[in-house]
Amino acid sequence: MKLVFATHNQNKFKEVQLLLPSHIELLNLNDIGCTKDIPETADTIEGNAVLKAEYVKNHFGYDCFADDTGLEVTALNGDPGVYSARYAGEEKSAAANIQKLLTELEGKENRHARFKTAIALTVGLESVMFIGLCDGAITTTERGEKGFGYDPVFLPEGKTETFAEMSLTEKSDIGHRGKAMRQLIAYLTKG
Ligand code: IMP
Repeated sequence: MKLVFATHNQNKFKEVQLLLPSHIELLNLNDIGCTKDIPETADTIEGNAVLKAEYVKNHFGYDCFADDTGLEVTALNGDPGVYSARYAGEEKSAAANIQKLLTELEGKENRHARFKTAIALTVGLESVMFIGLCDGAITTTERGEKGFGYDPVFLPEGKTETFAEMSLTEKSDIGHRGKAMRQLIAYLTKG
């Protein structure tokens, strides 16, 4: 079975590939000749996931799933949320996003945050949504070199290492994308 994961992000692609059974051949956007960034103009995380999956289905005809992830910080009323990628500007710099987040949280006692991943799947005539959540806290300084995005400042609940200090497997076991992906896989492999 060929299935497109609508992403240009190689880190995410690897995370997801690790979880899929071998009979599913996972393709990314470059593999199908889609080199442009698919517009993410919805005002919710779920809405953006649907936009991306439908774009691939409509323009390229492949069964597809797309994810959209946001970091929801309680003391910031759920920001950056759907705007996580562009939090510090259109250049989508992870370093600048982290700096802005740490500055916004300076002096705030409540550092609770959660990652939310929405995965929209369009396969045949069916469309399904899967949600994965991971609670944690924003650290006061960056820790670790692995991962991407906000990983160096996200400490998952009950853990002593940030996502950026963990292996990919460890992150997938407890993380938002892994949780949503396991629901997707259960759906794809159900009898
Ligand atoms: P998108 O879903 O790829 O558009 O991601 C939105 C924003 O959240 C980007 O700034 C990503 O770097 C960040 N992000 C997405 N997934 C993760 C993750 O697993 N860890 C840390 N940051 C992430």
